[in-house]
Amino acid sequence: MSVLSSLRVWWHGFNTRRKMNRVFSRGEDPYRYAESPYERARLDAMEASLKPCARALEVGCAEGLFTARLAKLAREVVALDISPVALERARRRVGAGVRLEEADLRRWSPEPGWTFSAIVLGDVLYYLDKPLVQAEFVETFPRVASWLERGGTLVLAHGFAGPKEREHREGFRKRFEAEGLTLREERVLGEGESEGKVCCLLSILTK
Ligand SMILES: C[S@@+](CC[C@H](N)C(=O)[O-])C[C@H]1O[C@@H](n2cnc3c(N)ncnc32)[C@H](O)[C@@H]1O
Repeated sequence: MSVLSSLRVWWHGFNTRRKMNRVFSRGEDPYRYAESPYERARLDAMEASLKPCARALEVGCAEGLFTARLAKLAREVVALDISPVALERARRRVGAGVRLEEADLRRWSPEPGWTFSAIVLGDVLYYLDKPLVQAEFVETFPRVASWLERGGTLVLAHGFAGPKEREHREGFRKRFEAEGLTLREERVLGEGESEGKVCCLLSILTK
């Protein structure tokens, strides 16, 4: 990363961390996952797309709601998030077997030689897709794809409202396909796509 690129990522990361800390400081479960049937169905579908595996990575784990489910499927779990406020809650939710790391995806790398049998990116990539840090956003795809072991599963689950946002979320999947991953399954979760209500594009890819 050049000095300019590092500065851009630092500045964007600083603002994202501040924003996310503000959101999570409003109180537990700011996205109302617990009381939302849509969110529960989304997490259920994400979980159902994975099988028991050796090592899993979750990016943007927030308060660890999905991380706790992942910990039942994978022998080893690494989960990262840019917000220390969210991670503090995740720490209380998940057991000591989960490695939680405060990190910006763009500046994080796994331990040398580590790969993952499963990688989960839920409602996180659109935080990185900003004009100021576009080059670094694009670089994220080959990096993440290289961390997935052969035969491994990548889960993408991103909310959208309306056709423009759906196309944008499909763009995430297309970038991973361009990195050699194969789409195994894709579907829309939630009701009311035609009325522009929030739905989730779930894409399951393999290497
Ligand atoms: C909307 S929450 C999604 C939580 C969970 N992944 C899910 O699917 O429900 C997005 C999370 O991504 C985190 N995040 C945003 N930008 C990030 C970055 N550059 N690196 C790591 N985490 C990031 C935020 O702090 C937040 O906790």
